[in-house]
Amino acid sequence: MSDIAIAEVGAADGSENSRQADWVPIHFDLRDTWFPVAFSADIGTQAVRRIVHAQPYYLWRDRGRLRAAEFRPDQLEPLRRSATAFTGGTGHYPVTERYGYVWAWYGNSDNADLALNPCIPFLPVDGSKIPRYTQRTVRFDAASPLSVENLIDLTHADFLHANAIGDGRCESDIVEVQSTSETVTRTRIVTRKSVAPVMRWIGGVRAKYQDLRAVLHVHLRNNLAISYPSFSSGYAIPNVQPFVPVGRHRSRVDQTNYTVAAPAPFRWLMPRISYVIQPQDNAVLRPQNERYFDADGRRDLSSRFDAPGNRYRLLMRRLAERQRQGDFSYAADANPSADISVVLGMNG
Ligand SMILES: [Fe+2]
Repeated sequence: MSDIAIAEVGAADGSENSRQADWVPIHFDLRDTWFPVAFSADIGTQAVRRIVHAQPYYLWRDRGRLRAAEFRPDQLEPLRRSATAFTGGTGHYPVTERYGYVWAWYGNSDNADLALNPCIPFLPVDGSKIPRYTQRTVRFDAASPLSVENLIDLTHADFLHANAIGDGRCESDIVEVQSTSETVTRTRIVTRKSVAPVMRWIGGVRAKYQDLRAVLHVHLRNNLAISYPSFSSGYAIPNVQPFVPVGRHRSRVDQTNYTVAAPAPFRWLMPRISYVIQPQDNAVLRPQNERYFDADGRRDLSSRFDAPGNRYRLLMRRLAERQRQGDFSYAADANPSADISVVLGMNG
């Protein structure tokens, strides 16, 4: 790799110093957010259970109507009196369907607001038009924020996934980070990169090198990672990775690799690459997870390449601190449902 530059753009308040961003564990589950708890297509009349943090979510359709409850359908009446504040004592969570996902609210149900449901501009809002071959489920043996940090780490793919999505050889590699109080956006611009092997094998790309512009947009409260990597020569491979926390040591990720515009057979085979990539990521995440929750007094060693990850840690800490003090509101600079097609660079 040569000529790598990190550009800091638009700091949250301009005052942060990435060198002091040592990790302080967040023993706080961020609340008041929509989690994409399941693919819509996976929910039928038979109830399925999902876990968000330690809270159970039973999902089913009752005469076509989507339900999300704290208890199994047959136990809803007998147990309703023990319903928690997560459902406002009703047993039912606020729930909606968009982009092929069932979104359930985690937090104070009085604060549930569709205007806080994230925008995923490359997916049809009406998920019924999203092909099943784009949807895959994987699991990671690590806390969701650790998985997000792994994804934000700009260089990890070049090492861990070189055999599938390409090594680190390139002419130049620029990384920029932007943020709000609720999101981190990392933009990576690479010129003359070795063509991703998977694109050469099955993606119809004949060139030896390609330019890449990859935008990763992360929502902090629900660990929703929205990516728009665009290759030339080649095409864009927009994807969604929602790291839904299943306790401290596991996340469930219902991924959408929206390859519909890519040539065949890449279109159908690329989403299956999750099954190659997930074990590679998991092999490094799993042993790290225990230490992720312990502050051991050692200072983090970070280079300028870690700026996006450090920004993420700083913002997560701020958000956790606010929530610890009882403030679950969204600040004026945050607008989860805003159209991010320009942020993602979808318009060229
Ligand atoms: Fe990875």
